[in-house]
Amino acid sequence: MTTAAQPSSALRILCRTTAAVALLSLSSVSGAIAQVMPTKDSAPLAPRPNDPAWVRADALVKRMTMDEKIQYLHGLFPPNTKPAPADMIPSAGYVPGVPRLKIPTLRESDASLGVANQVEQRKGDVATALPSGLALASTFEPKLAYAGGAMIGAEARAKTFNVLLAGGVNLTRDPWAGRNFEYLGEDPLLAGEMAGEQIKGVQSNHIVSTIKHFALNAQETGRHVMDAQIGEADLRESDLLAFQIAIEKANPASVMCAYNKVNGDWACQNDVLLNKVLKRDWNYPGWVMSDWGAVHSTVKASLAGLDQQSGQELDTQIFFGDDLKAAVAKGEVSQARVDDMVRRILHGVITSGLMDNPTPTTAQPIDYDAHAKVAQAVAERGSVLLKNEGNLLPLAKTAKKIVLIGAHADVGVLSGGGSSQVRSVGGAPVEIPLNGGEAASFVRVTWHASSPLEAIKAAAPGALVVYVDGKDPAAAAAAAKDADVAIVFAWHWQTEAQDAPSIALPDNQDALIDAVAAANKNAIVVLETGGPVLMPWLDRVGAVLQAWYPGQRGGQAIARLLFGEVNPSGRLAMTFPRSADQAPRASAPGFAEQAAIDDARRAGQQAGPIKAFAVKYVEGAAVGYRWYAQEGRQPLYPFGYGLSYTSFAYKNLKIEDAAGLKVSFDVTNTGKIAGADTPQLYVRAGKRKPMLRLAGFQKVDLAPGQTQRVTLMVEPRILADYDVGRPGWAIAAGDYPLYVGRNAGEPLLTGRAHLKAWSRKP
Ligand code: BGC
Repeated sequence: MTTAAQPSSALRILCRTTAAVALLSLSSVSGAIAQVMPTKDSAPLAPRPNDPAWVRADALVKRMTMDEKIQYLHGLFPPNTKPAPADMIPSAGYVPGVPRLKIPTLRESDASLGVANQVEQRKGDVATALPSGLALASTFEPKLAYAGGAMIGAEARAKTFNVLLAGGVNLTRDPWAGRNFEYLGEDPLLAGEMAGEQIKGVQSNHIVSTIKHFALNAQETGRHVMDAQIGEADLRESDLLAFQIAIEKANPASVMCAYNKVNGDWACQNDVLLNKVLKRDWNYPGWVMSDWGAVHSTVKASLAGLDQQSGQELDTQIFFGDDLKAAVAKGEVSQARVDDMVRRILHGVITSGLMDNPTPTTAQPIDYDAHAKVAQAVAERGSVLLKNEGNLLPLAKTAKKIVLIGAHADVGVLSGGGSSQVRSVGGAPVEIPLNGGEAASFVRVTWHASSPLEAIKAAAPGALVVYVDGKDPAAAAAAAKDADVAIVFAWHWQTEAQDAPSIALPDNQDALIDAVAAANKNAIVVLETGGPVLMPWLDRVGAVLQAWYPGQRGGQAIARLLFGEVNPSGRLAMTFPRSADQAPRASAPGFAEQAAIDDARRAGQQAGPIKAFAVKYVEGAAVGYRWYAQEGRQPLYPFGYGLSYTSFAYKNLKIEDAAGLKVSFDVTNTGKIAGADTPQLYVRAGKRKPMLRLAGFQKVDLAPGQTQRVTLMVEPRILADYDVGRPGWAIAAGDYPLYVGRNAGEPLLTGRAHLKAWSRKP
C-alpha cells in the first residue's frame, strides 16, 4: 500500500488512451427503420413493428432536429465539464435531454456496489455500500442480487440519477485481476443469473441499468491497448453466454462496451461483437454506450454498432458530436444509422420506465437503516468458511480474552477501489491516497466504517477484546499468547485500473499470521480480499473465514458469523489456486512493463504509455473450475466450496432427460443447527470441447433434520457446443456424465444424462 498524497479533487482529468483514431470512409447507407446495414458483415437489424416502445421511440425521433439527436449521442464527464449545466452534479456522466419533447436528461452514476462517489466528489453524499460483487455471487442467491440492485436503484433515483452503470458480468479468468471483486465470478450460469437479477432490481425503480463491459475486459493492465484473443465458439460458451443469460433475463436498457480490443478490433467499434452478436443474433433493441475513454473513431464506431459516446472529455476527441454530423453530411454515416442510435437510446429510456416516471429534480430522503440490512444480508450469506478445524468456530461467548490483529479491524472493513467506490454511510475511517499508478487519479484505498472490534465486543460482552495493528509480528504474537482466541484480519486490496502484483498477501502478513499461529493454537484468519490469495500458513491456523470486501455492515456480519448467530453459507464463486502458476496466467501480461512506467513516472521521468499487446486466452471457454478439471489440477479450494456449522447429505438422485434435462434429489440437514446449503449440479458435456459445466444450483435453508427435494431444470445452452458453422447452439445426442456435489471438486451423487439432439439459433 502506498501513501503519498494526491489532491482530493484529482479525478480522471486526463484521457486514458492514446490509440490512434481510425477513420474509415464507407459509402453512405440510407433507408428507413430496420434498413440499417452498417457493414458488409452484419445482417440488417430486424424490424420491430410489434414493439410499442420501438414505435414510440421512432415517433419521437421523427420530431427531433438533427442537433437534438446529435446532442443525445455524446455524454459529458461532469468533473471535467466547464461550465457545468445548472442541474449537473459530479458523477460519471450527463447527457442533456430535450425538454420540449419530454426526453429526459440522462444522469449517470456508477453503481456496481452502491451509488458511487469516488474520492468524495460530492462532498458528504453517502450511500449504502454492498459487499463486493464476488461476495454477492458467493451467496448463490439470485434474490439477494435483486434486492441489492433494487436498493441501489432506489438510492440512485432519490439522488436524482437515472442511468446506472451497473451489471458488471465479465468472467473472472485470472486470480490477480483488479476488478474481480466487482464482478460475479467465473461461471457463465452463476454470473449471468446474478447479473440478470441485479439489473432487474435496478430497473424496478424505473431507471436504466447497463450491463458491462462488453466484452472480455478480463484484466486491467493495459486495458486501453490490450487485444483479447479468443475463438468465437469459446467466447460464446463463456463470457458472451453470461451476457446473453443476463440480457434475456433483465432486458437492460443499455450495454456498455469495453476498453480493450477483442480479436483485433476495439470493443467499442467491434462489428462482430456489437452488430453481429448483440444486435443481430440476440436481437438486442437497446443502446450501446461506450466505456469512459473507449471510443476511437466516428465513422467506424458508429457503423460497427456504438450508439453513444460516454464521458467525452476522456476520449481524444468528441467523436459523436460535430464530427458525426459532418460524417452524415459527407455520406459516411447514414441518417438512418443516426436515427437508429437515438431510437435505441429512447427505446431503453421507454422500456426501463424512465420516460414515464421522471426522476426527481431534488434529492429525496433515503431509509439507510433498511438498506443497510441488505448490505449485511449479502455479507452474512456470501462469506465463505474455508477451514474450521476441530470446530474452533463458532466462538463461545464465554471467551475471556479475544485479540484482534491487523487490517484496521478496530475501525472498519476494506473496500475495493475504482469507479465502484461508494462513500458509505458512516464515512471512511481510513483513506489512503495512491502514490502513482493508473488508478491514482480517481482511487484511494478506502475502509468502510463498520468496526469488527466494536461488533465483537458487543457479541462477547464478558470478554476482554483488544486490538493490535499487526505491523510488528512479534508484538502481535505477544498480545495473542494468553488470549482464548486470536483473530488476524488479513487484507489484499484490489482496484480497477490496476491488477494485483501477486496474489500473495502483501505487507509481511504471511509472517504475521505465522507468528500469531505459533503463539496461540486458536488462531483464526478473516480474509478481506478481492479474490483468491495464497495461504502458506493454512495448516497452522484453526479457521479461515473468507469475508471478501464485506461492505458497510461487514464488521457486524463477521462478528455474527464468528459467534454462530449466523451459520456460514457462502460458496466460492471463484477457484482458489494452490499456487499462482496453477492458474492459466501466473501474473498479468504487461504487468512488468506497466510497473516500470509507473516507477519512472514516480521518479519524475516521462514514460509510457504501455505498448499494445495481445493476450491469447488459451483456456478458451474452460474458465476457472472448467480449466482446473481439464488440466487435472487440484486447487486449494474449488469453485463452489464452503463449510457450514451443520452438515448436509444428498440422496435419491433422479435424472429425467426426455425434454430437456431435469435433475432432482433430496438434501437433508444432518446436523444439530439450522443452516443453508447450495447443492450444485455439474455435467461434463460438449463434443467440440468436453468440459465440466455448472448446470444448476439452488440454495436451501434447512432446519436440523429437515429434508427438501431440489429440482433443477437445465438451460440447454450450458450443455451445448457453439457451432460457428451452423451458426448456433447444438447438443449432440448421447450420454453425458453428471454429478450433484458440494462443489466442483466433490461429486456426491453421480449419474448419466441421456440427452437428445438439440439445437437453436445463436
Ligand atoms: C469503468 C466503467 C465505469 C466508467 C464510468 C470506467 O473507467 O471501466 O466501469 O462505469 O469508468 O465511471
